[in-house]
Amino acid sequence: MDKTIELVNSVKDIQAMPSVIVKALNVMKKPTASMKEIGDIVMFDQSLTIKLLALVNSAYYGFSQQISSINIALSLLGMVKVKNIIVAVAMKPMMSNAGDKELWKHSMRVAAGCEYLANLTKIMDSDEAFISGFVHDVGKMVLHMSNEKMYGKVLSAVADGADILDAERKYFDSDHVKAGSLLAKRWQLPILLANIISYHHNPSLSSIPVPCNLVCLIDKLVQENFNPNGLDKDFIKTLGIDFADIEDLRNVIMQKAEVLIAELS
Ligand SMILES: [Fe+2]
Ligand SMILES: [Fe+2]
Repeated sequence: MDKTIELVNSVKDIQAMPSVIVKALNVMKKPTASMKEIGDIVMFDQSLTIKLLALVNSAYYGFSQQISSINIALSLLGMVKVKNIIVAVAMKPMMSNAGDKELWKHSMRVAAGCEYLANLTKIMDSDEAFISGFVHDVGKMVLHMSNEKMYGKVLSAVADGADILDAERKYFDSDHVKAGSLLAKRWQLPILLANIISYHHNPSLSSIPVPCNLVCLIDKLVQENFNPNGLDKDFIKTLGIDFADIEDLRNVIMQKAEVLIAELS
């Protein structure tokens, strides 16, 4: 059997989990979905209600008034943002249990960065940018869960400077892009998200390169050992951003992401 299929089949939790998330993601595709449907999902979960209220009152969105009613919070955020937050919160235990405590935080940083830059440049819809950034590395969960110890070896190889896909292939005979692509198929994720997962390390191969380029850029920008030389300068130019401002952009994104992480943790 193909190694990637074997790996994905070995992590039963991932295959059983996504009904709630897929349901929420599908709301994006359903124009008739009402705020009430989303409200019902949120109201059912008290901790989610509390997190949403904290977030809507935080500096992340910058609303001027104090919001204490969940209904007002929902209508201010809008359905798609609420759906994105539900997905991010619902995925947290699974991502955190996957052996790499940093994966959820990394996914949130990329989500926040993509949302911010999409808003700034209007290069794509900012809500779609958020969820694109959030899901880009879901394939890592498969590798972590199938062999946590082995993934530890991948992470230390990466810390020593190895390319992540090379390291994964060395220890798993597959990588998080392949595993994620198969997961996207099994979860029946929308085409945009499947593309992001498959091509965020190689945007030029995608049939929708712009969103993949955006995720690829932010993915590199939020790395701890960020190296401006590794960025795609041509793409940055198309965004109308001066390369000299890239460090400032990084700082803004990291700050916003920390607020998001703190409120949803
Ligand atoms: Fe990745
Ligand atoms: Fe990443």
